[in-house]
Amino acid sequence: MLWTVLTLLIMLFMEPLLCDRCPRKCICDNLRAFVACTNKNATEVPASIPQFTQKLDLRGNDLKVIPTGSFFPTPYLTHLSLQKCNIERIEEGAFRGLGRLVFLNLGSNKISFIYQESFDGLSSLQQLVLEKNRLEEIKPGAFGQLGFLNFLNLGENFLVYLPDMLFQGLQQVKWIRLSNNMINVISNEAFAGLPNLRRLSIDHNELQYFQSEAFTRMSGLTRLELGWNPMTFLSEEAVHMASLKQLFLNDMAIQDVSFKAFEKSPQLSLIDLSNNQIRSIQALSGVEHLNRLNLTGNSIRCDCYLRHFKQWADSQRVKVDLICSGPGHFRGDHLDSLRAIDLKCGNFPEEEDNQLPVTQKPEDEICPRICDCRPDDKHVLCENKYLQQIPKRFPFDTTLLDLRKNVFNSIFKEAFSGMKNVVSLHLQNCQINELQPGAFISMDNLVYLYLSHNHLSQIDPEVFRDAPKLGYLYLDHNRFTTIPMGAFKRLPNLFSLHMQHNSISTLPDNIMSGADKLHWVYLTGNNINYIAQTAFKNTKHLEQLYLDENLLLEVPTQALKGMSFLKELRLSKNPIRYIGNGAFLPVSRSLQHLYLSDLGLEQISSGGFTGLGRGIKSLHLDNNKLQNLPNMKDFNGLELINLANNLFNCDCHLLHLHRWINSLNLKVGATCAGPKSVKGQKVRNAPFFKCHGNDKGKTKITKKKRSEKVQPTTRKATHG
Ligand SMILES: *[C@@H]1O[C@H](CO)[C@@H](O)[C@H](O)[C@H]1NC(C)=O
Ligand SMILES: *[C@@H]1O[C@H](CO)[C@@H](O)[C@H](O)[C@H]1NC(C)=O
Repeated sequence: MLWTVLTLLIMLFMEPLLCDRCPRKCICDNLRAFVACTNKNATEVPASIPQFTQKLDLRGNDLKVIPTGSFFPTPYLTHLSLQKCNIERIEEGAFRGLGRLVFLNLGSNKISFIYQESFDGLSSLQQLVLEKNRLEEIKPGAFGQLGFLNFLNLGENFLVYLPDMLFQGLQQVKWIRLSNNMINVISNEAFAGLPNLRRLSIDHNELQYFQSEAFTRMSGLTRLELGWNPMTFLSEEAVHMASLKQLFLNDMAIQDVSFKAFEKSPQLSLIDLSNNQIRSIQALSGVEHLNRLNLTGNSIRCDCYLRHFKQWADSQRVKVDLICSGPGHFRGDHLDSLRAIDLKCGNFPEEEDNQLPVTQKPEDEICPRICDCRPDDKHVLCENKYLQQIPKRFPFDTTLLDLRKNVFNSIFKEAFSGMKNVVSLHLQNCQINELQPGAFISMDNLVYLYLSHNHLSQIDPEVFRDAPKLGYLYLDHNRFTTIPMGAFKRLPNLFSLHMQHNSISTLPDNIMSGADKLHWVYLTGNNINYIAQTAFKNTKHLEQLYLDENLLLEVPTQALKGMSFLKELRLSKNPIRYIGNGAFLPVSRSLQHLYLSDLGLEQISSGGFTGLGRGIKSLHLDNNKLQNLPNMKDFNGLELINLANNLFNCDCHLLHLHRWINSLNLKVGATCAGPKSVKGQKVRNAPFFKCHGNDKGKTKITKKKRSEKVQPTTRKATHG
């Protein structure tokens, strides 16, 4: 009797399980609550999957769409695999009801868009895999429901841009993987609000420079993987990440690393700079916890220039991975095995440098006899060899070709044919006066082109058609009197343009046309006296503009319009005597560094700095004739200010400056030029700022005179 009751009870309890039949296409393991329906070309989620199933594997079907409520019948799922299901669309609420799901894999599908509510209801989800899809864009808020997610994998998609607040709501996320996308822009707040993020993988993307602002937001990040991006430099304080311990910057095109690049990241213990194009490195400042620095695969000579670095590494106990690329007797040696005092310069016979690779070279490998081919780092050096023609038969895999200080006059068509892998081409000091069309044919991977110190005055725009990846163009110290019209129209990736020290006098309309990605423009030391309002019409990404040492009579305010990313503006050494109201207004939100030294500047109108303030980090106003300054109280983020060598008149009109300087914790350099009793004293310390009858009168008169002379239009006198 008891048995029958018991059996009945058990049967009643088990009923739901027994009722669930296994769908025809699937394999069910009821004991482990696991169901697999893989590779069946099913076009929808099979019906009648047992209700208590916890792990469901649907890989390799043909679902195309996941409709709303697809998984209502299986609310106990914890793991769901949906890879390779040709999924194009996930309807809003597709996973509703799966409040226990911890793992969802949607990899290898064709998803191109994520709706706001695609992941609704996944309140326990911990891992979400979306790799190998076709995501080009994700809207902020897409992951807003996933408060327990700790790993998000978005690798191998087509993402280009990461907008602000993209990952909003991912309070617990620890690792975000964005590897193998095409990301080239990251908005400053893209990673904001992720308190638990520890690791970010963003290798194999298109980032051209370290996204300091955006990365700084990840205050708890300890590991950042950035390798295989086309970065070329690391500037001062680029890396500003309080908790970062491991930084991977391997396999890029980095040539320059500022010794202060990591200064603001005190926790760093590993920096991987392997496989870049670094040729020299200095002792790094401010990285007290660093214990490993990987520099293998660069081309650094272990000579006297490395001695200080070596001493630093030894004293800080930093383990450095570096194989010497020279001089001859150290080539191939590990820096670790050398002593700092043995790192010397000079007195090595040149042959010694050349012999080693020559003897080691396999018979069939080619190298022009006069050049030094370095197979380890794929560099070919033919500097200063009195060459009159570009040599032929370079190793095919050459990435850096140095031909500077030869005598080429003209670069002929197909001069570099077959040099497909060259990234850096050095042609400085070669007396070049002509680049013939087709000169760079087949240089598909050229990023750096150095043509400084030549005799160029013209460039045929078609010349650059063959080097579409060109990012850094050095045309400084040539003979240009104008910027050749349309010269850059074939350079959509031009990032940095150097045209300092030519004789350019005007910048007409749309002068940079085509070079829409220009970030840095250097025009120091020309004769520029006119800049059209629309000169920089299409260069919306400019960050640095150097116009110093020219003949400008005023701040080119109109031309700055639309440069909403400009961070650094140099106008020093131009004959600008007066700065009027709103002169920097178009760039006031972005500007951080402003150079206005040596202008002979006599007056800045009271609204001359309107809009500027909080964002400004350095302000250079030294060597001018200023008697006063506009109100500076908004400048509260300054790290550097130079007011030396002006004519400050320390009377009552300067009281505001005196107070402001005393509120700063900075060296300012401002001294009083008058009145007589305080002449030569620091504005900071000057004892009185009174206007006595006489003084007052004088000041007013001089001001009036000046305003008539300098700028006839109406404006207010400067005072605070
Ligand atoms: C699924 O479809 C592919 C191609 O149409 C076919 O080759 C394969 O045999 C199908 N598999 C099943 C299990 O029906
Ligand atoms: C340094 O980088 C090279 C090349 O990427 C790699 O093979 C090596 O393992 C790295 N060393 C360390 C200690 O990480």
